[in-house]
Amino acid sequence: MIEITNLHAMTKDGKAILKGLNLTVNAGEIHAIMGPNGAGKSTLAKVISGHPDYEITSGDILMDGQSLLEMDPEDRARLGLFMSFQYPPEISGVSNSEFLRYAYNAVLKARNEDEMSVEQFSTYLTTKMLEVEMRKEFTERNVNEGFSGGEKKRNEVLQLAVLNPMMAILDETDSGLDIDAIRIVSRGVNRWMSVNKGLILITHYQRLLDYIPPHFVHVMVDGRIVQTGPASLALELEEKGYDHLLAVEEV
Ligand SMILES: Nc1ncnc2c1ncn2[C@@H]1O[C@H](COP(=O)(O)OP(=O)(O)OP(=O)(O)O)[C@@H](O)[C@H]1O
Ligand SMILES: [Mg+2]
Repeated sequence: MIEITNLHAMTKDGKAILKGLNLTVNAGEIHAIMGPNGAGKSTLAKVISGHPDYEITSGDILMDGQSLLEMDPEDRARLGLFMSFQYPPEISGVSNSEFLRYAYNAVLKARNEDEMSVEQFSTYLTTKMLEVEMRKEFTERNVNEGFSGGEKKRNEVLQLAVLNPMMAILDETDSGLDIDAIRIVSRGVNRWMSVNKGLILITHYQRLLDYIPPHFVHVMVDGRIVQTGPASLALELEEKGYDHLLAVEEV
């Protein structure tokens, strides 16, 4: 469902970050991406979603056979792509429920389905909030404004549940979550995931992967995937760290 080939991307001022990255995610698959700080994991997520700070210098990103490169981020979202941010932005003046209704109606419109009224959406949102065990007050507050780190991450899973995308990229959704929240968030992700969807999980820790078992674990170093293995690779990395892979890189 997503196929990335030989992807090279740099910042606007010419710093190369992605250096020939290949990754294919088929329907029904969960892929974890791990790797040292600064390897380019968040950049990869941003480049897939169409972030304007980066320029793709070669390679391609296909979703269901269609190249995303010339599409703006909204069109990518309409195709069914969703990404969460490592540092979710705050949006003042827009309540969470308004934001979600607007985003969801855009998705419905793209699918040629009827948009939801305020009342219809409110009912839909209530069921989704129960699923992710989120309190009502969070939908009335401005998007992420004053949310704690963990609350922002839970809010992302609410967005995932509401928008119900085909392909999601979650960037360190586990960071800063307390032990109960990590279980709730994982349950929300697992409930969303199905055989016709795809998921990329960017994480530093094995713990999240206990709750959301990946089919593949990839290690990213210096803008490239340098190792791919089964779920057990994450356990191995937890033990060995990344040093041995960095050493290989330098040869
Ligand atoms: N807009 C930018 N301008 C300049 N440098 C950037 C920009 N975006 C990313 N970088 C640099 O690219 C490298 C990769 O950053 P990225 O955020 O993708 O790493 P990461 O693998 O997600 O790291 P972490 O595990 O710490 O989240 C870093 O050295 C970062 O400083
Ligand atoms: Mg990152």
